[in-house]
Amino acid sequence: MPQLITLKVDRIDDMGGGVRRLSLCDPDRWRLPAVRPGAHIEVHIPDVGTRVYSLCGDPAVENQWQIAVKRSETSRGGSVWLHEQLTEGAIVYSSFPRTGFRIVESATRHIMIAGGIGITPFLSMAHVLERLGLDWQLHVLHRGPMDIVQDYKGWIDHGRLRTYDTSTGRRPNLSDILAQPDASVAAYCCGPQSMIDAFQEQTMAWPQDHAQIEYFLPPKLAPAANARPYTVELKKSGVTAEVGSGESLLKALLRIGKKVDSSCEGGICGVCELAWLQGDPVHRDLILSPDRRMTHLLSCVSGCASERLVIDL
Ligand code: FES
Repeated sequence: MPQLITLKVDRIDDMGGGVRRLSLCDPDRWRLPAVRPGAHIEVHIPDVGTRVYSLCGDPAVENQWQIAVKRSETSRGGSVWLHEQLTEGAIVYSSFPRTGFRIVESATRHIMIAGGIGITPFLSMAHVLERLGLDWQLHVLHRGPMDIVQDYKGWIDHGRLRTYDTSTGRRPNLSDILAQPDASVAAYCCGPQSMIDAFQEQTMAWPQDHAQIEYFLPPKLAPAANARPYTVELKKSGVTAEVGSGESLLKALLRIGKKVDSSCEGGICGVCELAWLQGDPVHRDLILSPDRRMTHLLSCVSGCASERLVIDL
């Protein structure tokens, strides 16, 4: 069981447009663990599971974290619970912060593109980029109210933060926003799939790691041609289980009573990560680096190309 942090809901702000910002602190107001810009936490929602939210406050503030949650009626219950059940003073449990976006240290110019509530990871990054004196811009495409940006008027006035209400105005071309490929420029995108597709197309020729993506929703994954039914062996207990064709490792582990945390179930959040020891995993996630894949897999989407897979569980 991963270590959890107990947090008190210190303050709730209605940010308009169905967005609620929660300010979280230690119940005794101790300092919280250090946060990297672009990091997220997994919040444990009773009877629902784990949901991932980007930390949107200034990472330099050591005794408070902030998350902004847009209520989604089509969600699987996380945002509705955070909107309807949480009051100021309530206790919630979260993971330690995990790194989502990483600021590309070799770049001197940073272009961030967000779709609606996809702004959240960039708010924490912008605080840091601003302090470092780097050249940055945050472009936010949204439909309807986007009141959360009103807290950043200085950035708007200086042309750092630009918003585009596509319900009343023209949708900007990403090619106009993104510069030509250049080793001194890094670009980041967080938003709906159509925005991510356009961003990927525009940055295809960019230097490796200089175009980074964070997904809102898991995209549809094509079946892995080389995946097959297999036996998973749990190294620590010696237990084995059969993983059927089309079944995820996560589902097979839950079926035999093993507790594995999960959230997106689509290979984009990293909550269900496990270490593997032997076998030939077929990775279908969208976030692990090639190095990380040498030792870890995401159990909600990974398949296996060998008869047996040994995991460190
Ligand atoms: S549950 Fe999100 S990556 Fe597996």
